[in-house]
Amino acid sequence: MLKGKRILLIVAGGIAAFKVHELIRLLRKQDAAVRCVLTETGARFVTPLSLQALTEDKVYSDMFSLTDESEMGHIQLSRDADLLVVAPATANILARMAGGLADDLASTVLLATDKPVLVAPAMNVRMWSHAATQANVEILTKRGIEFVGPNDGAMACNEFGPGRMSEPAEIVAAIESLLTVERPLAGRRALVTSGPTREAIDPVRYISNHSSGKQGHAIAAALAQLGAEVTLVSGPVAVPDPAGVTVVKIESADQMLAACLAAGAVDVAVCAAAVADWKMATPATAKIKKKAGAAPPALELTPNPDILATLSKAGPKRPRLVVGFAAETENLIANAVDKRTRKGCDWIVANDVSPATGTFGGDRNTVHLISAEGVQHWPTLSKERVAMQLAGAIALHLTRPRPAEAAE
Ligand SMILES: Cc1cc2nc3c(=O)[nH]c(=O)nc-3n(C[C@H](O)[C@H](O)[C@H](O)COP(=O)(O)O)c2cc1C
Repeated sequence: MLKGKRILLIVAGGIAAFKVHELIRLLRKQDAAVRCVLTETGARFVTPLSLQALTEDKVYSDMFSLTDESEMGHIQLSRDADLLVVAPATANILARMAGGLADDLASTVLLATDKPVLVAPAMNVRMWSHAATQANVEILTKRGIEFVGPNDGAMACNEFGPGRMSEPAEIVAAIESLLTVERPLAGRRALVTSGPTREAIDPVRYISNHSSGKQGHAIAAALAQLGAEVTLVSGPVAVPDPAGVTVVKIESADQMLAACLAAGAVDVAVCAAAVADWKMATPATAKIKKKAGAAPPALELTPNPDILATLSKAGPKRPRLVVGFAAETENLIANAVDKRTRKGCDWIVANDVSPATGTFGGDRNTVHLISAEGVQHWPTLSKERVAMQLAGAIALHLTRPRPAEAAE
């Protein structure tokens, strides 16, 4: 998928620099051309010689090298690439990028480029959580810099938490999702649910929630862009139907479940809808009238069907990948991890929907992707970018051989 693509890989000075050997190997395996810029500190962790051997290209480090500058000036370095990737991205290089510094070759190239930039942060958990780093990440995200990771996990410093660099395969998936013009999901079928449901109290009133459908609709669009045949089952929303997607409009959770089951066998189901947990035990058939002096009516509720759990149930018709969403206002990760186990789905996309986050109805989202392998913390991204990144991860998962096939 990356054949002929030109990647300028900027290697900064973090312990995770050892992983770039594998990253280069994976990129070269796909016939991508990789050229490296190594920071002065980066050269303490990996040698120019190893990078040169793996890339089969010259490694650039010194902005003031007369030969380098005459052969391949710093501006040309960024022009000759389709994508700049910073891996590992240290706290230091993130700060220099956010501040617009140009005090070495890496930072100068990053300032001079007009190409997309992907960064894979790697640092100690407290360095990552520090307000300064988080502010830099926010600035860079707003400028359109793309992030992959960091992941949760054990680190070289014997601590545990977010800060661990994404695995080389995850970085390659992010690169593919940024550069791909191919359709890795061609021939695959996807089901996406989106928006809220409405549960009738009577013919004029209903129970619902603030879901706008922006995230679910963006996911349907992204999967279609990657070539999937997508059925989008949508509750009542104001966002337009995505192009190239079959849209089934429903109101209640019962209708949503029926539409999902009617969609037939799919390779992946993404349940992004905010399905009402409860419905009226018996909705009134006529408008409930307000009577002077009478107590308000007691609404007797009953649980709605569990669409995510139903789709996750094992059996020949189960999609190969079922992705749920967990919209939480507290204990986000713990609740989402628990939800993944309870529902039996493969992945959970956890997002904080507290009013202060502006997630409901807003254009940006901060999500955490939870799978059996652990938790990936994604930075705040536009909902379209979250959708593209998720669709890229889904494509990677579905195009990977299943464990049984791999063993053959
Ligand atoms: C053994 C060792 C490991 C380090 N690992 C990291 C790291 O993983 N992430 C990070 O942000 N900084 C790390 N640092 C600190 C950076 O190397 C330092 O901030 C340096 O100035 C980064 O320079 P650069 O961003 O120009 O490559 C490490 C330092 C040492 C000595």
